[in-house]
Amino acid sequence: MNKNDSWKQKIAYQIYPRSFMDANGDGVGDLKGITSKLDYLKDLGVDYVWICPVYASPMDDGGYDISDYYSINPMFGTMEDMDELIAEAGKRGIKIIMDLVLNHCSDEHAWFKKALADPNSEEAGYFWFRDSGENPPNNWRSMFGGPAWERVPDGRWYMHLFSKKQPDLNWENPKLREKLYEMIRWWLDKGLGGFRIDAITHIKKEPTLSSLPADGPDGMVDCFAPTRNYPGIGKLLTELREQTFDKYDCITVAEAAGVPYDQLGDYIGENGYFSTLFDFTYSELYVHGHTWYTCKKAWEWPISLLRDKMFASQLETQKIGFGAVYFENHDYPRACEKFIPHEYQSPLTQKMLGTLFFFLRGIPFIYQGEELGMTNTVFESIDAVDDISTKNHYRIAINDGLTPEEAIKAVNRYSRDNGRVPFPWTPGKNGGFTVGKPWMKPHPDYIEFNAEDEAKDQNSVLNYYKKMVALRKSEEYVGALSTGDISPIMLDYPDVIAYVRSAGEKKVAVICSFSPYPLNAKLGFDPQKLLLANYETPFELRGGKAVIAPFAAFVCEI
Ligand code: NOJ
Repeated sequence: MNKNDSWKQKIAYQIYPRSFMDANGDGVGDLKGITSKLDYLKDLGVDYVWICPVYASPMDDGGYDISDYYSINPMFGTMEDMDELIAEAGKRGIKIIMDLVLNHCSDEHAWFKKALADPNSEEAGYFWFRDSGENPPNNWRSMFGGPAWERVPDGRWYMHLFSKKQPDLNWENPKLREKLYEMIRWWLDKGLGGFRIDAITHIKKEPTLSSLPADGPDGMVDCFAPTRNYPGIGKLLTELREQTFDKYDCITVAEAAGVPYDQLGDYIGENGYFSTLFDFTYSELYVHGHTWYTCKKAWEWPISLLRDKMFASQLETQKIGFGAVYFENHDYPRACEKFIPHEYQSPLTQKMLGTLFFFLRGIPFIYQGEELGMTNTVFESIDAVDDISTKNHYRIAINDGLTPEEAIKAVNRYSRDNGRVPFPWTPGKNGGFTVGKPWMKPHPDYIEFNAEDEAKDQNSVLNYYKKMVALRKSEEYVGALSTGDISPIMLDYPDVIAYVRSAGEKKVAVICSFSPYPLNAKLGFDPQKLLLANYETPFELRGGKAVIAPFAAFVCEI
């Protein structure tokens, strides 16, 4: 695993392949489409590209339901296309990170089919089958709603923490584990840069599979306590690392929700299971209550909460390892929806949000379209939505008595499909994403915000991202801005999130204001050189104080 530390100075970019670029005109993004856009990624300064699952899959959950780990879903192309992508990316100094889904597979995987056909087969032992009569074995709720168990025609029940088409794999079974390790090595032998590892903190289950006190009117309980980072998981993760990643020069980024800070060292310390992980403590602040329609909107919660959670994560991670920082991914609405009220969503605020996450301590992951300043899209009705979890939240809202008009409002705010619309390449038809009929309606604003036009506009969000990348990688500042220390500053100002990155004598301050008004503040440092800002003059010094422009973001040497 990561034989040296150079990856810490790099930039990563996440692609949702179905919506990135369609090369064959069938309306669906594909691998050849990604290959055709490698020069765009290189120009942006990207080093690693994480591609969401492209394996064979019935696409019940956007490809996170894999029916064959060794083949490519025809909707995305062929294995030759994958090999070509890896090779062409390599020529440009870009490494491909595949998504590795190990907690579950698809109910259409050959293993599951054999397990269904024969309860005594080896494959039946790869899953969590139980006989419990008419009722499920316990009251755990699946993450997409409803029981975490499904019954099969012969009366057995199987566990699925996500959709019922995603049966959980039984990691207690050594034969299953060996099959998975073999598959991982097979992929790494192709020369991958590494993996983003899906839902990995769920592979260990509470062994007695007992029911727990209900936490909702449905009589069920969230499956987090008995299946997330459950004691004993370390043994499995150590073996996973030793049997696979350790043998290669690759990086591993764990989707590791639920890891308490006092266990971070096990995960990403010197001999941790992974190179780095995504921490969700600050990116999911808006999610609370049992469903979306009850969530607060941007600014109904204080921005200082984001600041405090974000810094807690940064400071804890700094003690033992190196994080992976991000604001957006394929599971979230666009970041501005979470942090900026509608009336203020604009290229200015998009640049401010970009600045805030990009210079944190960790490898930055840009999510496709974030670099264009994309906002949420518009869903007229639930029929326009593909995502399984969105449909679940919509159903809950309707069952709770909301009208379709009310329920679709929450969908528009929080649906994961907001980030899954076709990428706008040009102002032309379908944003240049496809010459066919796009699988999902393009964002209505693509005529205004698209890669081609933004490339020509020096003030665009895209060109701002290019400047951020160039600054973070510049010889002079890369030390401070990559592995340098981070320390929060200006904590007396609840509408400001600011920090200093430093390595030796080099000190760089990053200041982001969430105030829509000019803000009088004591900077607490002496700005020497303005390195980057979303205004020509982001602040003015008056007396001992600075007047910071509304939603200003600036980076300066101090
Ligand atoms: C996390 C992935 O990011 C998400 O898209 C997926 O639905 C679940 N894991 C289940 O694989």
